[in-house]
Amino acid sequence: MRMLFLLLSFFVSTAMAGEESVYLKEGNGKDKVTAQCAMCHSLDYITLNTHIMDKAGWEKTVNKMINAMGAPIEDSDKKIIIDYLASHYGR
Ligand code: HEC
Repeated sequence: MRMLFLLLSFFVSTAMAGEESVYLKEGNGKDKVTAQCAMCHSLDYITLNTHIMDKAGWEKTVNKMINAMGAPIEDSDKKIIIDYLASHYGR
């Protein structure tokens, strides 16, 4: 019984930690990324890729979201979004 309680509290606290990870770092473009990249999937997709992505990688990903997935992102926002991702979530 006690074991079960410990297991439950473990799952509750990891679920809450996951919730927090969707808040992005402060910076120019954060609001655009939050608004335009979270409409189809969690922002975890961004934070989980931090260690493998450089600027070229983010550029490719954002283009893929627009061209292949149909993300409605303006050309003028695209540059801001890529710069934000590369400087806050790049290698
Ligand atoms: C129109 C819906 C849509 C929008 C808007 C969108 N995505 Fe995605 N994204 C997807 C889908 C669907 C997948 C899963 C594709 C797959 O499994 O290959 C994905 C996957 C990803 C991945 C995982 C790696 C990959 O290439 O599959 C990353 C990183 C990502 N998106 C980042 C972003 C960023 C950054 C933005 C904002 C610029 C964004 N997404 C906006 C639909 C979207």
